[in-house]
Amino acid sequence: MYEKFEKRAEEILCTLTLKEKIGQLNQVPQPVAGNLEETKERIRRGEIGSFILCNSPTAGNEEQQAVMVDLLNELQKVAVEESRTGIPLLYGRDVIHGHHTVYPIGLAAACSFDPELVKKCYHCIAKEAASESVHWTFSPMIDVCHEPRWGRIIEGQGEDPYLASRMAEAMVKGFQGEDLTADDSMLACAKHYVGYGASEGGRDYFRTEISDYTLFNSILPPFRAAVKAGVATVMSSFNDINGQPVTSSKKYLTDILRGELGFEGFVVSDWTAVHQLMKQGVARNSADCARLALTAGLDMEMTDNHYIANLENLVLSGEISEEVVDLAVKRVLKIKIAKGLFEKPYKEPYKVDRTEHIKLSEKIAAESMVLVKNEDNLLPLSKDMKVALYGPFTYERRALQGSWALDGYLGASTPNFLEAMNEVMAGQKGHIHHSYEGVLHDDCTYIFSQNDVIVLALGESHAATGEARCSADIVLAPNQVEMARKAKQSGKKVVGVIFCGRPLALENIEPYLDAILIAWHGGTRCAHAAAKTIFGEYNPCGKTSVTFVRKTGQIPLYYNITKSGRNVDGYYGEGYAQNYIDSLGSPMYPFGYGLSYTSFEYSAPEVDKATISLDGLLAGENVRVAAKIKNTGERTGKETVQLYIRDHVASCMRPIRELKGFEKIELAAGEEKEVVFNVGAESLGFYNFENKYVVEKGHIDLFIGENCLTNNLVTIEIV
Ligand code: NOJ
Repeated sequence: MYEKFEKRAEEILCTLTLKEKIGQLNQVPQPVAGNLEETKERIRRGEIGSFILCNSPTAGNEEQQAVMVDLLNELQKVAVEESRTGIPLLYGRDVIHGHHTVYPIGLAAACSFDPELVKKCYHCIAKEAASESVHWTFSPMIDVCHEPRWGRIIEGQGEDPYLASRMAEAMVKGFQGEDLTADDSMLACAKHYVGYGASEGGRDYFRTEISDYTLFNSILPPFRAAVKAGVATVMSSFNDINGQPVTSSKKYLTDILRGELGFEGFVVSDWTAVHQLMKQGVARNSADCARLALTAGLDMEMTDNHYIANLENLVLSGEISEEVVDLAVKRVLKIKIAKGLFEKPYKEPYKVDRTEHIKLSEKIAAESMVLVKNEDNLLPLSKDMKVALYGPFTYERRALQGSWALDGYLGASTPNFLEAMNEVMAGQKGHIHHSYEGVLHDDCTYIFSQNDVIVLALGESHAATGEARCSADIVLAPNQVEMARKAKQSGKKVVGVIFCGRPLALENIEPYLDAILIAWHGGTRCAHAAAKTIFGEYNPCGKTSVTFVRKTGQIPLYYNITKSGRNVDGYYGEGYAQNYIDSLGSPMYPFGYGLSYTSFEYSAPEVDKATISLDGLLAGENVRVAAKIKNTGERTGKETVQLYIRDHVASCMRPIRELKGFEKIELAAGEEKEVVFNVGAESLGFYNFENKYVVEKGHIDLFIGENCLTNNLVTIEIV
């Protein structure tokens, strides 16, 4: 895909001195007032290839300076007109799940099970950020993760490799569009390659143990999908795998990423990850860091200076060959060429009309919300009701955007839940009675008793998740549980709207809540999406992208576990020998789960053939499996129809269920639709212990249902 730029890159490369080549591999933080002149001098000397537009290593946690388009044009002018090489600079920024308009965090967006919608939203993000000179975003984050204690679980798409792959593809295509040179296109970066989401114990920056079997089957698929979608760059991850830092691993950065996945763009390190090779104990000094990372296949160094300080000497002393440098430089140049920077290095800032972006933000927030409990069909509420609105997230704005929202407009641009509730109720018979600070006053019992229903705005702040924001216990704060208990005690029905980043362990609060809407950190229009859902303007249709545990101690708990030798049905660890003595083994809410205000009925799946030959499958034949889904309720609703497989006997232990397809459909009351999946070799095989993709003979169950617990199946045989 980027090979076509090889010749031009080669021609440019030939004109560069060794120092200038190395400069292309050097990414530095954006200049601050004090070092502007010095930075310009460095650009003139060809020492800088790229800027990361932020000023701290954990950009998602701190406020960042807004993008300064004029300054960026000024620096670009120095690069293009005052340096000998004239090579334009590449500007990257963490534009993760939104720019000025913010969309739901990755984990939530995945709950929409709607890649097309996600793609549209990510295109809007690109449009907004690209208009301010951001050429390159460090997104999407596509780390499959089983660890809700890990603060960064919010950035990915949850626990399922297939869902993450579909989302990865959508996000890359949304950011990059059809034409990288277009004004509204931004280079994407698939991160963190690879295994960061498997950090032991959910501790950030920590070690991992990942077998190739797990890597190939569970962790690589979204990266494979991102590469196939044409992702221009990949960010290497901080972690080590089995004692091998990824930053210095030829196996991961070259053999697998380029050899196996076919990646043609360039690899950027994570912030100071090259330096950390010393801390990880595989490099003695700065020169070692540079040598190890570059020869492993790491092309651009983010903010470290080890390349710029050492590569020239390493080449001159013969410790590394200049060809290794050339290879990395060519990869960077190819992406700069592909982006059209040589033709159009400057940006005329223009105003983006955000009207559609904001609408989409509400749509996707609503489609990402998951109704996990609705006793006696308490929801939707009637607008005639008197509603007591309490809870610490009644007034929150910033939290709704989640971590990593560097540029999200706040204030009135991100309405809070109270404003949204009032707006939805304007002109209606009912009203909203809200507490002043969102805290529990001793008069609350009286207030609760004066209203028809209690809505509690609960959750965790954006600062509770994100980079280096891991939690040993993933429960709601005790004051929120106490508030729910008091509310329940009043005898009124209680609705919990939970604005969260991770799948919280809700066992200690769930009994006090009659209805629970997981609203997530849903972005700019999160509050409206939640308020309108509560009052039935939206019919909830999100499905969990990740398992919700009952208790923190159940972690890790995910649906696609391999079978176990000793359990009764074994599913999610329920039953003899897999249970805890102090907790059920099953999850609070399984993967793929979510309620609606209507109900759906599934017919038994039917196949066009009960047997298929292995040769036929490998030659491209499919099994057609279909089920009819009927809306048996009284409202129009959307349902995500999910296809899972289970391989009965294989040469390697296979999961109890694996998601292999999904389709989101809308059905009017009483309407029925047939959903068809064509299941081929790409769905029925797996990577074996030799890392080879194989499809084996034998029986396979095909399930079509509403979540991963479905038992609605038909069995086929591969002969
Ligand atoms: C560290 C994070 O791990 C990464 O995701 C981010 O893109 C960089 N910092 C740059 O801010």
